[in-house]
Amino acid sequence: MQMSNRVSGFQCSPIRRLVPFSRDAEEKGIHVIHLNIGQPDIKTPKEALDAIRSYDKDIIEYGISEGELFLRQGLARYYEKYGLKISPEDIMITTGGSEAIQFMFMTLCDPYDEFIIPEPYYTNVATFANIAMVTLRPVTSSSDDNFALPSIAEFEKRINKKTMGIMLCSPNNPTGHVYSHEELRGLLELCRKHDIFLVVDEVYREFCYDGKRFTSVLSFTDYQDRVICIDSFSKRFSMCGARIGAIVTRNREVLESALKLAQARLCPPAVEEVAAAAALNAPDDYVEAVRAEYERRRNVMISRMQRIPGVRCSLPKGSFYFVVDLPVDDAERFAIFMLRDFSYNGCTTMIAPAEGFYVTPGLGRQQARIAYVLNEEELLMAAECIERGLKVYRRTVMGIKD
Ligand SMILES: Cc1ncc(COP(=O)(O)O)c(C=O)c1O
Repeated sequence: MQMSNRVSGFQCSPIRRLVPFSRDAEEKGIHVIHLNIGQPDIKTPKEALDAIRSYDKDIIEYGISEGELFLRQGLARYYEKYGLKISPEDIMITTGGSEAIQFMFMTLCDPYDEFIIPEPYYTNVATFANIAMVTLRPVTSSSDDNFALPSIAEFEKRINKKTMGIMLCSPNNPTGHVYSHEELRGLLELCRKHDIFLVVDEVYREFCYDGKRFTSVLSFTDYQDRVICIDSFSKRFSMCGARIGAIVTRNREVLESALKLAQARLCPPAVEEVAAAAALNAPDDYVEAVRAEYERRRNVMISRMQRIPGVRCSLPKGSFYFVVDLPVDDAERFAIFMLRDFSYNGCTTMIAPAEGFYVTPGLGRQQARIAYVLNEEELLMAAECIERGLKVYRRTVMGIKD
């Protein structure tokens, strides 16, 4: 049967579309090291798990569409710890940061409106933009300068009557770049000049390294009408399956409009809201320990990957991903080769080909996104597999004699 043209035009997630190959490898008894997806192996805070275990209601009822007040109050207190004055009324709880992005596009844009976004970008944004029939206008950032923000002039060139906003992700998925105070201010001035929004996805807010300070877009109170923050509990508290996120903005009109969407989907997951509120009571050193662990893993993985001949990657400043240039003709072909045709000591890797993280066709074809969410031993084994796999791939598939 014929499916809609709309869905037929959507991409399958480059993070998940090679899963059939990894399943086949696993069925053959090969241990697949998953570098493709940001699923941490870190334990969820005990407070959150205990809250689920002790949930004692007789009925799991529908909750409030904008999210339970206790959770919004808890989140407001959490922001206060970072010096951000946010009231519970500035927060809408969503079914993950994913729904927050979807609601944001649906609320701000009509079909064929445009959003400007630095590429490579978090690939699922493409599908959310497609659902809302929003066109993404890319500004290309480059591995040559560690994916720094392109010039403000490059953003301005892409603004037209249809532009509703600029969307960033900081710390960035997939590049690991953390946007500075000056970069954000520059963009906010541009947004004010053209009367558009700045949306920043801050779901990796805590994961900044080398002493780099994180600047939240919410700290720019003088631009507060045009600032929207996307947030999530998934990574911060290693509770990706709980599906709790948020839209945070002091622009009440935005939240009032988004509420129509929230009411139609009734409420965010009710038991998980209780767990999320409990996670906010985890000791302050929980998140710090997680951050320090990711920083160690980053150091291990980057220094090992940089020793592989022909591989290029630089030290990311945040999140838990980086984009790597591979000495291959096509990173997707290489990713499939690793899953279907290669193993070393019973192991192989699954990487996310980066082409789907770009709007511009052809870009990222020789790049992959690597998530360093696993323990050091697994990461080192994965890098070993990549090094050995590259040698075989280049010789047997590309016909190159190194
Ligand atoms: C940048 C970014 N935003 C949003 C999300 C979605 O997160 P959630 O699990 O809260 O839907 C992710 C998930 O990987 C992400 O990396």
